[in-house]
Amino acid sequence: MERTKICEIYASPESYDKTLIKVSGWVRTIREGKNICFAMLNDGTFKSAQIVFEDSLKNFEEIKRQNVGASLEVVGKVKYTPEAKQSFEVVAEEIKVLGECASDYPLQKKYHSLEFLRELAYLRPRTNTFNAVFRIRSEAAFAIHKFFNEKGFVYVNTPIITSSDCEGAGEMFQVTTLDLEKINGKPDYSKDFFGKKVSLTVSGQLQEECITHAFANTYTFGPTFRAEKSNTSRHAAEFWMMEPEMCFTDLKGVMKNEEEMLKFVINELLRKCPDELEFLNNFVDKTLLDRLHNVVNNDFAVLTYTQAIALLEKVKDRFEFPVEWGVDLQSEHERYITEEVYKKPVFLIDYPKDIKAFYMRQNDDGKTVAACDLLVPGIGELIGGSQREERLEKLTARMDELGLNREDYWWYIDLRRYGTVPHGGYGLGFERLIMYVTGISNIRDVELYPRTVGKIDY
Ligand code: 4AD
Ligand code: MG
Repeated sequence: MERTKICEIYASPESYDKTLIKVSGWVRTIREGKNICFAMLNDGTFKSAQIVFEDSLKNFEEIKRQNVGASLEVVGKVKYTPEAKQSFEVVAEEIKVLGECASDYPLQKKYHSLEFLRELAYLRPRTNTFNAVFRIRSEAAFAIHKFFNEKGFVYVNTPIITSSDCEGAGEMFQVTTLDLEKINGKPDYSKDFFGKKVSLTVSGQLQEECITHAFANTYTFGPTFRAEKSNTSRHAAEFWMMEPEMCFTDLKGVMKNEEEMLKFVINELLRKCPDELEFLNNFVDKTLLDRLHNVVNNDFAVLTYTQAIALLEKVKDRFEFPVEWGVDLQSEHERYITEEVYKKPVFLIDYPKDIKAFYMRQNDDGKTVAACDLLVPGIGELIGGSQREERLEKLTARMDELGLNREDYWWYIDLRRYGTVPHGGYGLGFERLIMYVTGISNIRDVELYPRTVGKIDY
């Protein structure tokens, strides 16, 4: 007999009534009576199935003494129970133990803090919270692909090992096959694997821009690495980034796409993960569902960096970090604007050129660039984007100003000589999106195995 997934039964329990089925999964709880026992069996479906078994079962005693965590295969008849807490139960006719569970199994039926579960990253997906988070993560990724696919964007995969620092922040993990323990003095990179110094990518944007100039609309979606020493709840050393790039557009077009994409993804999650979202709303963040509905039903605000500084200066005493035109905004500033002033997502645009990357398009004022960061309540920066500098002279002049070696970026510069067009794009921090749509407040709890400064387990 083929296995039936518990989600299929939940989808229409009445149609399974009195049907003989086989379900397999892990025991979440077991309640013993003298002649009758109840086990909650979870097969990855968000809701578990109640299994009822009686002493007529030939291995009743064996099943009865199974611990939480044991894996079982159950053959039995579905009983439709519309009045009960679960809309059906499975009355077992045969139960096979697939794998017993040792009594030191750490996930007992009681409240475990997220910090405790973080140390058990290999088991925590078996809890309701992480079941919800990682299913939502999967559905969000799928929704992103669906959004761009339906819009005709081409999905491209840019390299992970690279010799260029896209963001210019120098926060890269070096990749080498040189035997570091045997090196005296300066390493000779011409003897390294690639014959030069290389690192893990911080963004696929520069390579992608070239491909976008063939397809007009592309996106990448993959792992990204940053050796940032920021030990915060929003920074990871390894995270996923989704980067769309669009030709024949200005900054407004980039922002329009961001807003449409985010609303599309949230609508898909509201439609496909109602149980998971309701659970998270009840147990993790009571404002979650209101917030998600608020995002899909309202326009995002738009504010220039200069206007934002004026707003912040009025209340500057409440911040730890200084506020004046030209400073990079800290998360406390970003959160004040989006959480307290606007209470919804805010695009901050036209940042000073000195706090942004070399590739952003220079505005006519000579001081700012056509950048847009999307700030959201609870997170701060969710997306970083910009219109790109498509004018050859402006680009190379800026690179010289910043002391970038033109030879390292010869192909990127060439793109401006071979049919340059106005274009732009953005990078969405995928873990930050998942934090936003689950209400989970630490990035370590939306990645399976988080990698952060000073910590790598598993
Ligand atoms: O703002 P960033 O640095 O932008 C870029 O890398 C551009 N090249 C993207 C583009 O235009 N194609 O990073 C983009 C987003 C941030 O807004 C943030 O959400 C996320 O990536 N991010 C991080 N997420 C987790 N941990 C970190 N250490 C992150 N650094 C950036
Ligand atoms: Mg940024």
